[in-house]
Amino acid sequence: AATGKGNYRHFMEKELHEHPVVLGDTLTQYLDPMSRSVSLPKLPFDPVKVPRLTITACGSAFLAGQVGRYWIEKLARIPVDADVASEFRYREPPLPEGGAAILVSQSGETADTMAALHLLRARGQKVLSVVNVPESSMARESDGAVLTVAGPEIGVASTKAFTAQLAVLACLAIGFGRARGTISVEDESKLTAALLEIPGNAAAVLDSDEEIRAMAAEVAKARDVLFLGRGSLFPIAMEGALKLKEISYIHAEGYAAGEMKHGPIALIDSAVPVISLCPSGPMFEKTASNLQEAAARGGRIMAFTDDLGAMKLRSFAERVVVLPRVGSFSAPILHAIPVQLLAYHVAVLKGTDVDQPRNLAKSVTVE
Ligand code: AGP
Repeated sequence: AATGKGNYRHFMEKELHEHPVVLGDTLTQYLDPMSRSVSLPKLPFDPVKVPRLTITACGSAFLAGQVGRYWIEKLARIPVDADVASEFRYREPPLPEGGAAILVSQSGETADTMAALHLLRARGQKVLSVVNVPESSMARESDGAVLTVAGPEIGVASTKAFTAQLAVLACLAIGFGRARGTISVEDESKLTAALLEIPGNAAAVLDSDEEIRAMAAEVAKARDVLFLGRGSLFPIAMEGALKLKEISYIHAEGYAAGEMKHGPIALIDSAVPVISLCPSGPMFEKTASNLQEAAARGGRIMAFTDDLGAMKLRSFAERVVVLPRVGSFSAPILHAIPVQLLAYHVAVLKGTDVDQPRNLAKSVTVE
């Protein structure tokens, strides 16, 4: 049955392995492979006219929204405010006339995000939700909804729904950029082509399972773990930390690599694994030098990178997992998968209840 575990030990493991299909299904909803262009459904606001966007959500969905912010600001040049829903509600942000918001949610029932939706609509903002459950309250009460095609997600820790949210946000960013003329037809075609390679790349990442499991054996011994990333990989570092906390109960923090020297570097010693998302590309040298600083202080560097990045990182990193080489646009989608896999293997080694971690509910319907 669609909701059974099949041959997998946990729903989370099964859902991790659904990545190639889910990403393919979601991307082909909004991308045309023939013309290499984006085709979005009718939106409740005009991206050309919108003065500012608010992105709000909770937990992993919020972290997907933060990646969306990097993409939308870069490609469409729309100023974006991103805030967790439980804070957004109470900080009384000034919202512009003609403004709009994007809400992100797997369940479409999260109470904090629903409260934000009601506030936004009462303040005259048009609300678009990126949601996985078409008949959910959020999908019904928003001015428009774009669906992730992740299918039912049973594991409390979000996996395929998170990456599907990223896929939709990536398509929105390209679509907004084209509408506003901030990216060209050639850019659209290149970015679309890059996204269309993601399902195949996701399958290749799943093939690194053994290496990630070996890394997990080390991480499982730690009391504290740091995840580092820069740019659109910073929210993925936070997602890696959130996932590890949720299911393995190991304390973890996700930091922007450049912030290390402003505080967290004081934590570094040989007991703290530093897990870095460090593919080759424009931010590589800077991130690599942050990692070298940590290594020089006895830090145990573990990196997710690509073949080019690995050449440099191997000289000081304890473990390097080589992922397919992709451009910086699709890197956050691809890097989300190994951090989820890592958390999964650590949790299995620790013997926790992977699919039903303590104190957590799949959908938080109280504020
Ligand atoms: C993800 O692993 C979490 N369990 C949690 O952060 C979740 O993403 C959050 O509660 C939001 O849920 P939603 O997507 O259903 O709104």
